[in-house]
Amino acid sequence: MCGIVGYTGINNALPFLLDGLEKLEYRGYDSAGVYIHTDDDRDVLVKEKGRVKDLEKKVEEFDMRGKSGIAHTRWATHGQPSIENAHPHVSADGRYYLVHNGVIENYKQLKADYLDGVEFKSQTDTEVAVQLVGKFASQGLDTLTAFRKMINLLDDNSSYAFLLMDTKSPDLLYAAKSKSPLLIGISETGNVVSSDALAVLDLTKDFIELHDSEIAVISKNDVQLYNSKGNSYTRNSFHLDIDPTAADKGTYPFFMLKEIDEQAIVARTLIKNYFINGFPHIDEKIIHAIKDSDHIYIIAAGTSYNAGLIGRRFFEKWAGIPTETYVSSEFAYDQPIISKKPFFIFISQSGETADSIQVLDFIKAAGYPTLTIANVLNSTLTREADFSLPLLAGPEIAVASTKAYTSQIIAQIILAAAIAGGHEDLQKELSKLAVDIQSVIDGKEKIKQLADKYLVNADRAFYIGRGADADVTLEAALKLKEISYTLAEGFAAGELKHGTISLIEQGTPVIGLISQSKTAGLTRSNLEETMARGAKVITIATKNLATSEDDIVLPELAGENEMFGPILEAIPIQLLAYYTSFGRELDVDHPRNLAKSVTVQ
Ligand code: M6R
Repeated sequence: MCGIVGYTGINNALPFLLDGLEKLEYRGYDSAGVYIHTDDDRDVLVKEKGRVKDLEKKVEEFDMRGKSGIAHTRWATHGQPSIENAHPHVSADGRYYLVHNGVIENYKQLKADYLDGVEFKSQTDTEVAVQLVGKFASQGLDTLTAFRKMINLLDDNSSYAFLLMDTKSPDLLYAAKSKSPLLIGISETGNVVSSDALAVLDLTKDFIELHDSEIAVISKNDVQLYNSKGNSYTRNSFHLDIDPTAADKGTYPFFMLKEIDEQAIVARTLIKNYFINGFPHIDEKIIHAIKDSDHIYIIAAGTSYNAGLIGRRFFEKWAGIPTETYVSSEFAYDQPIISKKPFFIFISQSGETADSIQVLDFIKAAGYPTLTIANVLNSTLTREADFSLPLLAGPEIAVASTKAYTSQIIAQIILAAAIAGGHEDLQKELSKLAVDIQSVIDGKEKIKQLADKYLVNADRAFYIGRGADADVTLEAALKLKEISYTLAEGFAAGELKHGTISLIEQGTPVIGLISQSKTAGLTRSNLEETMARGAKVITIATKNLATSEDDIVLPELAGENEMFGPILEAIPIQLLAYYTSFGRELDVDHPRNLAKSVTVQ
C-alpha cells in the first residue's frame, strides 16, 4: 500500500526519491508524486496517475535540482486514482507539502470543524491534514507545534505515517507515525525517511526507529525526536543486515517466480537457524509461555491465515494444545469466548497488516501473551508482540505471497516440535523436505504445460482436497484469483456435492490435492463425480498415493510425514497460478487493486 520516501542531504534528491519510489512499487499503488525544493529556491511538485515510470517521464519536463524532497506512491482509499488525489498535497497558502500513508477516519469532521472556507483540491483525507497544519501555522504556531496540534486532532481509529516539508525551512523533514510503518535512515551524505527500508538500502543500512505518536525533525546531519508533550530526545540507530541485491529480480521475468524458486533455500535457512545439535531450538521463554497456556489462537490474514490453518494441526497433534486459527479482520470485531489461559500467535509476512495490528493492540491491552511470526524484522507486529520469531525468508517483493507461506508453515512446525519435545528426526526430515521442494520446483515445465493447456483460457477453476489438503485448496484458490483474475474456489472435497457441483460444465478445471492417506480415496471419488459432469480434472498427489494417471506427482510422504503434504503442494499451486497469469500476459507481480502490505482495515 502507499509508499513514502524523503531525503534531505548534500546530493541531488530527485534521483534518490525516484529510485526509492521504484523500490516501493511492489507495495501496490495507482499514482505517484514528488515534491522538491530546488537549489534556486523554487517549489516544484509533479504528480502522475499510473506507474512510477510515467511520473519519471513527466519529471523530465521540469528542472528539479534540489537537496531535499518528499515522494509518494498512492493506493487510493478516499477519492479515485487521479493526479489531483495523488500526494504530495499542499496547504492552501502553498507553504506546506505533505505525504501520508494510512487513513484519517475523522477527516470529514475535522474539515467541518476547522477548515470552513478553505478551498480543497482533492477528495482525499490527507489534504485535511496539510490544510490543518497550514491553518494552525497561519494563526502563529511554529511548524512543529502546528504539526503536533493536527496529529492530536486525529481520532484513535486513524492510522498515519506523515512526512511534511515547510517551504520556509526546506532543509528539514517532519515525520510522524501511528499504526503505519516509517523509518528514518541516516548516512554521511544525508538523512532519509521511508515506509520501507528496502527503498533506501543503496544509501544506508543504519536506521532510527520512530515510535507511534512521536514526531521527528530531520535535517541532513541530525534527527531530533519529540514526544506528544513536546520534550525532545535522540535515539541510537540500529544496523539492518539486509543484502540490497536480495530485492533484485536478476534474470527472472517476475519476482514471484524468483521467490517460488527460493523456497528450498528458505527451508534450509530456517533449519540452520532453529536447530541446535539436531533439536528444535526456540527461545525458552516462548516455549514456557505457550506450554503454560490452555489454548492457542492464531490470528492472521490472507495467505498468512492459510498458513495458520496448517500450523494449527501441528500445535494440536504434536504439542497437544487446542488451537484455532482466525481471520484477523473478523476476530477484531467478533471474538469467540476466550479460554482462561490463552496464547496468541500472529502470523504475517509484512508485520504491518492493519487488521492484525488492530487485534494485537487489544489482546495486549487485555494482558494476554503474544508471539509474532513474521518476515519483516522490526515491523509493527514483531515490535509490539511480547515475543517474535523471524521467518528469515528474505525480502518478498511480489504481491502474491509464496516463500513466506512455506516459511510460515515450517516455522510453526519447528515451534510445535520444540513445545512437544522429542522429534529428534525432525531436522533430518525437514532437510529431506528441502530437497523434495527443490525437485518439485525443478519439474516446473510440466506445471507450465498444464497451466497453458487447462487454465490460461478458463474463466473459473476449483481446487478440492480433504483435511490438510482442504486447507491448501484455500491458498491455491487465493493465489490463482489474485494474480490471474480467474474466479477460483477452494474447499473440502466432500462439500462439492452440497452445492458447487452445479457450476461444473464441460471443460471446467477441477484440481484435486491428494497427500492424506485417510481421505485420498474419497477425494478421488469426488473428482470422478466432477469428471462425470464434464470437468477437466488435474491431480496433484504424493508418490505413495499416486496412480499412473496423476498429472503432478510429488515426492513420497508416507506415515506421519504426510503432515508435510501442504508444503510440497504449495509449489505446484503457486506455479499453476504464476503460469496462468504469465500466459495471460498479466503483470504477475503487481495484480490490479492489490497491495503487498495492507495497512488499512
Ligand atoms: O503481510 P501479511 O502476511 O500480514 O499479509 C496478509 C495478506 O494481505 C497477504 O497474505 C495477501 O493475502 C497476499 N497477497 C496473498 O498472496
